[in-house]
Amino acid sequence: MAININEEKRLITLQTKNTEYQMKIDQYGILLHTYYGARIYGSDMSAAISYSERGFSGNLTIDREEIRAYSLDVLPQEYTCSSGGDYRISALSVRDAAGGTSCTLRAVSFQTEKGKYSLDGLPYVYDENNEAETLLIMMKDPYSGLEAELQYGVFEEKDIITRAVRIINRGGQTVQLEKAASLCLDWQYGDFDWLTFYGCHAQERNLQRMPVHHGVQSVGSTRGNSSHHYNPFSILCEKNTDENNGLCYAFSFVYSGEFLMEAEKDQASQTRLVLGIHPANFRWNLKPGMSFQTPEVILSCSSEGFGKLSRNMHRIIRNNVCRGEWKYKQRPVLINNWEATYFSFDAEKLISIAEESAKLGIEMLVMDDGWFGKREDDYSGLGDWYPNEKKLGCTLKKLGEEINARGLKFGIWFEPEGISEDSDLYRAHPDWAVQVPGRPPVLSRNQLVLDISRSDVQDYIIGRISDILSDAPISYVKWDMNRSICEKYSAALEPAQQGEFAHRFMLGLYHILEELTSSFPHVLFEGCSGGGGRFDAGMLYYTPQIWCSDNTDAINRLNIQYGTSFGYPVSTMGAHVSAVPNHQTGRVTPFATRGAVAMSGTFGYELDITKLTDQEKEQIRTQIDRFHKYYDLIQSGDYYRITGPQDPCAVWSFVSADRSQALITVVSRQITANSAPKHFNVPGLDAQKLYNAVFVLPEAEEKPLHVIEKVSGAALENGGLTIPTMQWWEYQAWQILITEA
Ligand code: DGJ
Repeated sequence: MAININEEKRLITLQTKNTEYQMKIDQYGILLHTYYGARIYGSDMSAAISYSERGFSGNLTIDREEIRAYSLDVLPQEYTCSSGGDYRISALSVRDAAGGTSCTLRAVSFQTEKGKYSLDGLPYVYDENNEAETLLIMMKDPYSGLEAELQYGVFEEKDIITRAVRIINRGGQTVQLEKAASLCLDWQYGDFDWLTFYGCHAQERNLQRMPVHHGVQSVGSTRGNSSHHYNPFSILCEKNTDENNGLCYAFSFVYSGEFLMEAEKDQASQTRLVLGIHPANFRWNLKPGMSFQTPEVILSCSSEGFGKLSRNMHRIIRNNVCRGEWKYKQRPVLINNWEATYFSFDAEKLISIAEESAKLGIEMLVMDDGWFGKREDDYSGLGDWYPNEKKLGCTLKKLGEEINARGLKFGIWFEPEGISEDSDLYRAHPDWAVQVPGRPPVLSRNQLVLDISRSDVQDYIIGRISDILSDAPISYVKWDMNRSICEKYSAALEPAQQGEFAHRFMLGLYHILEELTSSFPHVLFEGCSGGGGRFDAGMLYYTPQIWCSDNTDAINRLNIQYGTSFGYPVSTMGAHVSAVPNHQTGRVTPFATRGAVAMSGTFGYELDITKLTDQEKEQIRTQIDRFHKYYDLIQSGDYYRITGPQDPCAVWSFVSADRSQALITVVSRQITANSAPKHFNVPGLDAQKLYNAVFVLPEAEEKPLHVIEKVSGAALENGGLTIPTMQWWEYQAWQILITEA
């Protein structure tokens, strides 16, 4: 049983293989959070709570009598309101019809269910194998009729707990939700660091580790999407935690819109973390009898460092978030024409790329931006999802058939949420663009955003894309979104509802994606938002892979893919080999290194293959063979980060589930003359088993440079391996294949 209830002590314990999460309903009905960490075998941790008087904090008052040693301001709680004497960051803020914000939630009942709860219209962690259990705790404000159903899903074997909340208005008047977070988590003791992932376009998900200090710290997005700038994934950890040791907690928001993650260290040096929809652009009118469902958060805890924590996240995302036919199916090696041609292409050019690609083993050609409407640059055409046959020189169907005839599948780019002012769609429906009447809209990439909070607009998009996918032989869709949303306003919403726009936009997006992915189950959808501007667990529910970044420079990609790997598996990271000098950095790196880096993702090419040398073409053949050979190991093996971004060498490895083999990749980021040999430990293998380690350059696997025979897993983990100093140049890649001896 993953959920244990001790009725007598009113203690609720969620147990997973290695962790425990505990709550207690106290004598006043307050739902205390008593513990989350390594197993404690059901012990009542409420004994660790200290009750003492707190000056200038509100005290619990019952029948006008103040209980001096009981203040919500310091008690660890499960889901908190912004009133009632708790002045810390809170999860729920409600404005009632009279304009007041008072609310105190008491736990009134709970129930457990086999299997996991599901969410309507939102992405969530699903449980197709019925391996999870559900706990629902009903909280109630005794005075207003407001209720909060706390939802918990427990995946025992996977060390995963999910949380979400349903707010229900059982009162007689409409109330306004000003904040409705999905998670609040309290730690009474401990001194923590917080790992968050910041960035910008073409430089996403850089790791930042900072101490949780007195005061409030936060990361979030008010950009209409989860953003390049802060990822909705973070880790809280004890000070000494590293890749392989120490206590740490992961939080992944299954949502692609505006979010806020806050951490606070309070007057008693306790830590609270709150995560949910960003309240800045959120005002939800909750009519009597109606409910509001928050998005979900995935939680995991590891006492064995970040590596194990990430692998827990990889497993749950790969198995219980990504869906559809392509979840486990081998993804095609694709070639995308964006960096090869940008907007200047026609069918003839694409067919010439396909012809050359077919000879080298590439499996799909993706036609990027520029095939529709009037679209020679980014000033026009978005919204006019009709193939530009004049530009292409043929119909889309014909083009798809020609590509197929060369032995390649055919994929296509869309930006369904975009609309250009210079488009037939805008001319016909200016009110379909997100803009505030009477004000000039804020442009970004010369475009506006389509108001997909509206059902007529959703129908238009579903209709246009469905027609195109039905008409031409299309096997893949790249779903791009190239700007943030500045004005949070819809012409279709009443003034009092404008605060619902940002979330309604996301519900609209999820509805469109649900319709299209279920109507076209054979099509592989790849998410994208100017690269990795919407790389989150919400999008992964619909698109099992996401273009990781517009930055294709192999050396910059080391950091981007490293940061991404903390919360997301490599099977979700779109990664391509591009031309040199690199279009984003001007850097020149070896072809083999570009291949080795891109191969740690969903692999493809993004260059004009017709312009490559014979030697480079030969390398493509080799890379594709290697990618196929190691596909399972890379895509579903256990991922280990061996060095961090400050190390002159990036080292990472994939270990098979049965620990019979591993593939290690080493890339030199920076070299100094006469430097020390690169040495590193190899975690994850079976300590007792003997292995052979074969060192190769990725372009010449058949000519090993160095072989070590019969070395134990323990020796590899504790003693490690050294790259011999010969052939060690800046930006060079090495790979080491480890197999059971
Ligand atoms: C941004 C994407 O990330 C690129 O790969 C490309 O598709 C462009 N948009 C096209 O406009």
